Amino acid sequence: MTAIRSVVLGCGSYLPQQILTNAELAARVDTSDEWIVQRTGIRQRHIAAEGEFTSHLAINAARDALANAGIDAQSIDLIVLATSTPDNTFPATAVAVQNGLGINHGAAFDLQAVCSGFIFALATADNFLRSGAFKRALVIGAETFSRILDWSDRGTCVLFGDGAGAVVLDAQVQPGKPTDRGILTTHLRSDGRHKSKLYVDGGPSSTRTVGYLRMEGREVFKHAVGMITDVIVDAFEATGTTADDIDWFIPHQANKRIIDASAHKLHIAPQKVVLTVDLHGNTSAASIPLALAVAVKDGRVKKGDLVLLEAMGGGFTWGSALLRW
Ligand code: ACO
Repeated sequence: MTAIRSVVLGCGSYLPQQILTNAELAARVDTSDEWIVQRTGIRQRHIAAEGEFTSHLAINAARDALANAGIDAQSIDLIVLATSTPDNTFPATAVAVQNGLGINHGAAFDLQAVCSGFIFALATADNFLRSGAFKRALVIGAETFSRILDWSDRGTCVLFGDGAGAVVLDAQVQPGKPTDRGILTTHLRSDGRHKSKLYVDGGPSSTRTVGYLRMEGREVFKHAVGMITDVIVDAFEATGTTADDIDWFIPHQANKRIIDASAHKLHIAPQKVVLTVDLHGNTSAASIPLALAVAVKDGRVKKGDLVLLEAMGGGFTWGSALLRW
């Protein structure tokens, strides 16, 4: 029986021009390039310029994705933007993106699941497309985490960066088989018991301020690998696939040690793992589409490849998506 699938037509990305290296950070706080590289794999991150907002990053990434897909912005009828660093408390940054792209039909909204935001946004858009409610979606992850970092806290300020990535999804009728193109399965999880392990200590309703990111790094690390592997096993079971079937593993880029340990536990070969954390740092909801865009543009990810995405982040939230390019 045929099935409607959300097929990826193209992807794109945008990184702010300014690069901040570990050496430059070591001049600001008591840290070193060696410590950061050894504990996280991060060597540099990009930082948005003064006056450069999350929406600007998102619009640039969306334009790149539309060009990569070879389609006109007017054919988009749904924009789901994953971010924890919106331009304003409201309206949604997604409507600024919609307006910036010259679209005034369909729907645009933000979605907030911190580092898992892109997976949650992808699953949301996929459900809308498969239900027939919308036909073509832009799914964007965009962040300016540099604006919510406490630059005097060496435990967090070395980890994050700014950037945006986007994919275009198109509702297409497929044969309804495991060999279909498009999103084959998504799995989302949350557990609010962990909400104080990674959070921002401000907000409109609580402090009337924006606040700064706070994290119990060791606690996050302790839970990460188990949660990640659980939702990937769910994806394997739902589709009857195994680690051997995967062509590319594109995880949330938080920390090389978490990525290596997850791939090892799942028996995913190291050469199938796409790594960009060294160059981008942790860009939260933007990290997966940024990594995806790198691997598509350098020719690694090709039509027909089986691509596994996963993320885990504040909340905690975590999730996976398995798709055929
Ligand atoms: N430079 C030098 N020393 C530092 C730094 C730094 N930037 N940051 C912390 N330290 C020190 C600490 O003060 C501590 O010193 P002490 O022993 O004298 O008290 C020592 O290093 C060890 O600190 P830990 O926090 O135990 O270091 P750990 O090995 O756990 O590494 C890290 C810290 C990298 C944050 C790790 O816990 C981690 O990666 N956690 C996962 C967090 C993460 O990836 N978060 C991203 C968001 S969530 C997500 O996206 C999945």
